[in-house]
Amino acid sequence: MRDIIISGNWKMNKDLGDTTSFCTQLRDYAQKHDESRVKILIAPAYPFLYPAKQIVDSFPISLAAQNVSINDDGAFTGEVSATMLRSLDLEYCIVGHSERRQYHAETDATVRTRIIKLMEVGIIPIICIGETLAQREAEETEAIVISQIQAALQEIEITDPQQIVIAYEPVWAIGTGRNATPQQAQDVHLLIRNWLNTRYGNAIAAQVIILYGGSMKPENIDALLAMPDIDGGLIGGASLQITQFTAMIQSAKNAIQNRR
Ligand code: PGA
Repeated sequence: MRDIIISGNWKMNKDLGDTTSFCTQLRDYAQKHDESRVKILIAPAYPFLYPAKQIVDSFPISLAAQNVSINDDGAFTGEVSATMLRSLDLEYCIVGHSERRQYHAETDATVRTRIIKLMEVGIIPIICIGETLAQREAEETEAIVISQIQAALQEIEITDPQQIVIAYEPVWAIGTGRNATPQQAQDVHLLIRNWLNTRYGNAIAAQVIILYGGSMKPENIDALLAMPDIDGGLIGGASLQITQFTAMIQSAKNAIQNRR
């Protein structure tokens, strides 16, 4: 049985004070967190990863960066390398988010390089893929999602299902308030899992965590997590408020009980 990950992608929100106060509240909540199969994860902005870590360290809360450089070190102003993230003891890093593809010219090829850099230092990439509204309406969803995952993992060997996390994030559902229906999301998650099966075999495919992202919130999370191939969420807007975030962790706890 796969674990569930509830992850907050804070994007360019929360300054130092907001980050530390959220982390303190989340730490207090996590003190009573008694379900090891539900993983709590937050992705603050780069400058606040370290202060966040100081607060949540030794509690069952993981941290993710939101991006990583394609380069190792040197004259790349404004970039942060995988080894720098490693020195913070980070467990995860988001890669290929559609906002980075859209506004920062990321391509399948650079997403792949980022994945390699992270895997080299033992950080788990959360690999984001998903179609735009125009692509869905043109019935290209399957082809787009498969081509993105194929390109991202091209010639990358996976020997342990915990080496990667995949996030299916339909672009039309991100920040729009309009989530994919549970069935729409499930269909794509199954497609991804079947692709993983063909590429890496069942032992890997059956255990890789596939998150859904796109307007996930307390009101719709239960129905999404009831789907057999949805293993949690990468949550933007609704992860910014502690009460909403902890409500979704509670939903994940209920869902994991139902999966037992
Ligand atoms: P949203 O963002 O929950 O605000 O739609 C999700 C994401 O972009 O990861």
